[in-house]
Amino acid sequence: MKIGNVDLGERPVVLAPMEDVTDVSFRVLCREQGAAMVTTEFIPSDGLIRDAAKAIAKMRTLEEESPVAIQIYGHIPESMVDAARMADNAAEIAGGHGADIVDINFGCPVSKNAGRGQDPA
Ligand SMILES: Cc1cc2nc3c(=O)[nH]c(=O)nc-3n(C[C@H](O)[C@H](O)[C@H](O)COP(=O)(O)O)c2cc1C
Repeated sequence: MKIGNVDLGERPVVLAPMEDVTDVSFRVLCREQGAAMVTTEFIPSDGLIRDAAKAIAKMRTLEEESPVAIQIYGHIPESMVDAARMADNAAEIAGGHGADIVDINFGCPVSKNAGRGQDPA
């Protein structure tokens, strides 16, 4: 299976993104234990474009976890474009390895996320 130029092998087992779970140490452990790819927890695009330290820190990945996807989410298209560019340049912005893949969270059912962007009516 190939995603862009990232070759994950025949039948890859990939670590799902999980808020407050898939931090850097957990991701490295999963790669050591055979995950073909790992993913950061979702990172808010509005936090990234505000340069919020917490959001930036979540983009920091290590060489030994590669291939690693950085996941972003948000409901404002312009913010998502800027955040995707930042994720693509994560190595310069946050240090470390950066992103092999930028993953966009399109379907989080958690109400604090799914309810954003709706008309107040
Ligand atoms: C604690 C927790 C946090 C999660 N956080 C995210 C997240 O940040 N981004 C995302 O796309 N999915 C998130 N998910 C969904 C998981 O990535 C996954 O899609 C879901 O658990 C179903 O996986 P399964 O079919 O292997 O059980 C989260 C799930 C759990 C349980």
